[in-house]
Amino acid sequence: MSKPEPTVLHGDSLVLATELPQGQADLIYLDPPFFTNKRQRNRTGHHYDDRWPGGLAEYLAFLRKLLEAARPLLSAHGLLALHLDWRASHWGRVELERLFGPEAFVNEVIWAYRTGGGSKRHLRRKHDTIHVFANGPKYVFNPSTEKSRLAHHYGFTNVQIRDDGDGPYTLSGLRDVWEIAALRGNMKEWVGYPTQKPLALMCRLIECFTNPGALVADLCCGSGSTLVAARGLGRRWLGVDSNADAVKLALSRLSH
Ligand SMILES: C[S@@+](CC[C@H](N)C(=O)[O-])C[C@H]1O[C@@H](n2cnc3c(N)ncnc32)[C@H](O)[C@@H]1O
Repeated sequence: MSKPEPTVLHGDSLVLATELPQGQADLIYLDPPFFTNKRQRNRTGHHYDDRWPGGLAEYLAFLRKLLEAARPLLSAHGLLALHLDWRASHWGRVELERLFGPEAFVNEVIWAYRTGGGSKRHLRRKHDTIHVFANGPKYVFNPSTEKSRLAHHYGFTNVQIRDDGDGPYTLSGLRDVWEIAALRGNMKEWVGYPTQKPLALMCRLIECFTNPGALVADLCCGSGSTLVAARGLGRRWLGVDSNADAVKLALSRLSH
C-alpha cells in the first residue's frame, strides 16, 4: 500500500477506520470525549458535545469500539496514546490492557496544569492521563532530559551540576509527569475549540515516541493540534473528526 498523504477527514472514526490505510500509523493519539456529560460552547461559537444519554455503558461501548477501530491502523511496532481524565482514564487503561495485553504498557503520562476552578470538597483536579501502549516490542522511544533542581551544590560526585541563574540543577531523564501550561484565551495558538490541547504537549509526545517521517494519526483530531505539531516536527499526519466545524478549523490551521 502506498504511503498516505497528510489529510484531515470528516466522519465517524468508528466507521471510517476500516477505509484508512491499515498497519501504517507509527503513533495514534486519541483524545476522545472524556465523559463530562456536558455540551460546551464558548465565546468563539465553537461547540463540542460530550453527553451520553445512555450513561457509562454507552460511553464505554464507544471507547472500546474506538480502540478496536484504531488498533489495525498501527504499524507492527506503532504506539497508541489514549488521553483521558479522572472520569474515565481507569476504564481506558482496562480497555487497553484487554486489547493489547498488559505487557504492551509503555507509560502512563500525567499532564499537570494550573487552570482556574476547584471545589471546597476535594483537591483541585488538575491533571489528565495519557496511557501509552505499544503494538510490538520494537517501538520508538527517544529519551530526553529535564532539569532536576538541587538545594545546594555540594555533596555530589560524578554528576554535572549546572546553573541557569535560577539555581543549581542537574539533567536527568524525563519523567512521566509533565507540567505544561493549559491553553488560555489570550495565547497565540488558541483557536477557540473547547478541549483544544497545547502544541507543547503534543510536540513532546510526538518527539518521545516517533522519528521524523513517521505517520501520526489522530482519530478525534478536533482543532488539529496533533496534526499541526506533527507537521512542525517533520512527521506525516492523518486526522479524523466527526464534527465538521472541527475539521474546518484543523484544515485552516494546517493551511497557515
Ligand atoms: C477532546 S476533543 C479533541 C480535541 C483536540 N485534541 C484538539 O486539540 O483540538 C474530542 C473530539 O472527538 C471528536 N469525536 C467524538 N466522537 C467521534 C467519532 N466517533 N469519530 C470522530 N471524532 C469523534 C469530537 O468531535 C471532538 O472534536
